[in-house]
Amino acid sequence: MSTSFTPIQGGGSLVLAWRTAQKKILIVGGGNVAAQRIVSVRTADAHVILVCPAQGLIDETRYRIENKEVTWIDRNFVDSDLDGMDMVLTAMDDHEESARIGHLCRSKRIPVNVADVPPLCDFYFMSQHREGPLQIAVSTNGQGPKLANMIRTKIAATLPKDIGKTIEKMGLLRAKVREWEPAIENSGKRMGWVIRCCETWGLETMSKLNELKGKEEENLYKVLEEYFKKNEVPPTSLVFPSSPEIALIGAGPGDPELITVKAKRCLLEADLVVSDRLIPQQVLDLVQGELRIARKTTGRSDEAQEELLEWCLEGLKKNQRVVRLKIGDPLLFGRGGEEILWFRERGYEPVMVPGISSAFSAPMAAMIPVTFRGVSDQVIITTGRGTKGSMPDLPEYGSTRMLVVLMAVGRAVELRQMLLERDYPLTTPICWVENANCPEERVVLGILETMASVVVDNNIKAPAVLIVGKSVDVLTRDNVKIV
Ligand SMILES: C[S@@+](CC[C@H](N)C(=O)[O-])C[C@H]1O[C@@H](n2cnc3c(N)ncnc32)[C@H](O)[C@@H]1O
Repeated sequence: MSTSFTPIQGGGSLVLAWRTAQKKILIVGGGNVAAQRIVSVRTADAHVILVCPAQGLIDETRYRIENKEVTWIDRNFVDSDLDGMDMVLTAMDDHEESARIGHLCRSKRIPVNVADVPPLCDFYFMSQHREGPLQIAVSTNGQGPKLANMIRTKIAATLPKDIGKTIEKMGLLRAKVREWEPAIENSGKRMGWVIRCCETWGLETMSKLNELKGKEEENLYKVLEEYFKKNEVPPTSLVFPSSPEIALIGAGPGDPELITVKAKRCLLEADLVVSDRLIPQQVLDLVQGELRIARKTTGRSDEAQEELLEWCLEGLKKNQRVVRLKIGDPLLFGRGGEEILWFRERGYEPVMVPGISSAFSAPMAAMIPVTFRGVSDQVIITTGRGTKGSMPDLPEYGSTRMLVVLMAVGRAVELRQMLLERDYPLTTPICWVENANCPEERVVLGILETMASVVVDNNIKAPAVLIVGKSVDVLTRDNVKIV
């Protein structure tokens, strides 16, 4: 019978948060492992009894004893030490004695961890990240403690700053909700409302609760109470009012790993993201707030551009943090400069976040160094389609000059003709790079003579970059001399 119930995978451990406050935990041994165990169990407020002769102590365990963080018994383990213990941890070099203690605990049904002997452990210690009430524990089921440690570090690095404080604030909100609606039969309503708030606001936004103090915080709770009573979730912009901000952000050429850390943060935090059409889905998936994408524009690009900017302005007037997301670098052939002036005229100075431009990343994707000592020492970046569809003015041929042409696909025939008129030899190497840095990337090589026909033969489509000049095949040619 096929069901939607969680399939049982088996072979795991039961992952619990064990409350050991004031429980008696015996640690046998006084070295490094014992020292680590002391930190773990004292973090959980357990009462620790450490059995170890003085000569077996290291500086840290001695410090714990002197600081009265553990009760110390200065001798080797004796069986009666197990009396009244809630848990036992062995951390000693004598493996035989360690295993004997493990078996003894088993016979007395005292949960035990025998360091380095997984079959004798009733439980394992997990790699932990601690921040206030937040505890993240990673288990590899005893198979890879170092890996658990690395995974834990990676997870912790993705969390918003001061997440522990945010959790405390949300804990406070839960307590308030119980005050507003104490009836036990309404626990479902209480829980449901808090869950919907968390989902609507998102982790990044919720971390703004940390900044609220005194009167501001009291006022917020008043607003939240009103919404709770109506069983509605207050909109994010009401709970976390922000000053309006417009950021012009470069999305890079397409690979989400090629956007800057700052661009990623802006995307995660934005209330509204207004994006160009070329931006790949993987980058758009980072957006947490509202996302609006430019319409198809054949022949109406000015109207579409005006519409995009008006969307941004609407957001700004609602005090939102708005991101204008642009492919590659915002100030290279994307009307970025005009947009800055447009926003300035309306009283907003954009924050600029650069992006990796296709002008450089597409040649690199095709392993074309745009400069190479002794081969090319200049790069001209130009467009195949100027303002209102005009032809660009391409430079004269220079044997050490590279040309990178954006928006050139539909103009291959005219551009080829113009290059010939500018004395480019028919044998000049050329390359088309379509969808650079995206999964669908294609690289098509040729020479000036075939520059237009390869577009048709290979069905090359925008977005693509055209690269012209001797560096195109510098890394594949046999007779290149390193000068
Ligand atoms: C309006 S321009 C914007 C350029 C962008 N600001 C930049 O820095 O890459 C659009 C042109 O960029 C180029 N382009 C953008 N992304 C590309 C990609 N992933 N692969 C190849 N060319 C790309 C194409 O030439 C496309 O026609």
